[in-house]
Amino acid sequence: MITLAENINLKNYNTFNLDYTTRYFFSVSNREQISELINHRVLDNFSAKLFILSGGSNILLTNNFDGLMLHMNTKGSKILNKTDKNVFVKVEAGEVWHDFVTWAVNNGYGGIENLALIPGKVGASPIQNIGAYGVEVKDVIEEVEFLNLNTLKIEVIGKSDCDFAYRSSIFKTKLKGQFIITSVTFKLNLNSVVNTSYGNINERLSRQGITNPNIKDVYNAVIAIRQEKLPDTNVLGSAGSFFKNPIIDNEHLQKLLEKYPNMPYYKQGDDTSKLAAAWLIDTCGFKGKRFGNVGVYDKQALILVHYGNAQGSDIVNLAENIVNTVYDRFNVKLSPEVNIIN
Ligand code: EPU
Repeated sequence: MITLAENINLKNYNTFNLDYTTRYFFSVSNREQISELINHRVLDNFSAKLFILSGGSNILLTNNFDGLMLHMNTKGSKILNKTDKNVFVKVEAGEVWHDFVTWAVNNGYGGIENLALIPGKVGASPIQNIGAYGVEVKDVIEEVEFLNLNTLKIEVIGKSDCDFAYRSSIFKTKLKGQFIITSVTFKLNLNSVVNTSYGNINERLSRQGITNPNIKDVYNAVIAIRQEKLPDTNVLGSAGSFFKNPIIDNEHLQKLLEKYPNMPYYKQGDDTSKLAAAWLIDTCGFKGKRFGNVGVYDKQALILVHYGNAQGSDIVNLAENIVNTVYDRFNVKLSPEVNIIN
């Protein structure tokens, strides 16, 4: 029997801690409930007004929601296969991402230690191909299982068909709004070679006297760095990086470097380069600035924060102000990484 909760406050379900409600709410805690939602035609009836809520860590609500929010809370994981080199693990969508990373590290399974402490749940991880410190989740995904909302059938899609790119996948493009991810299968490494190349991981490890780091050392270093740079969303609402790092052509890059020789950039291997949105925003003077009940975090300029009692539109307005200012100065258009829900 499916009973939908009504008029639920979403403050604890979005990491911006914005105070909006949803007309209907249902927390999916097992697979049988997915079948029930199909059999009772709930998914059909709400098809135009359905929102799949995962960890709520990459959304910006701007209104009360007048439909059904399905909160994916299915738990469990299963080792499918082990070879000399790899372990294949199928993880249910509602598992907390960081708990999965911790479990993997504690068992000696490598590949995701750089992704420690990323907020959110396993089911959302492929959608925007979460990434940090030189690793993206696409590097370890084997396949993704989802309920196709058009056919109401379960489908499995291999990594090569997921169209993974920087903070993007088929789930943000062709399949947008047409799926509920039910599980993700990962291929982790038994004899992992750690990746410490990004930013200050190496520097932190060597300061600790660690010259030959294992996955646990990298995991601990990433946690320490993130805790220093990123706000605790229980205290200060945010959704991590608000914008994607923009990609521009190298001709444009050269012009910018003549004027800003210290500007960080990352060559992409084609004729484009990725810029650091945080640096662009910081250089425009936004870092640490407060505008009423919202602002730009003082330790990382890519993070917009909510101090309490703001509307989603206050954050949207700040984001627009940043986009326009950065565009006027650098001729670079920032686009949000966060999903703005109207
Ligand atoms: N920088 C500034 N000012 C700042 C912050 C950074 O000038 O306030 C400069 C830094 O000096 C550095 C560059 O910007 O040269 C990049 O900064 P950082 O290494 O902190 O990473 P990021 O590009 O801002 C990305 C991801 C983060 C991820 C970090 C670490 C995106 C949109 N963001 O941020 O992901 O944790 O790298 O790998 O790609 C997220 O997606 O929510 C997220 C937090």
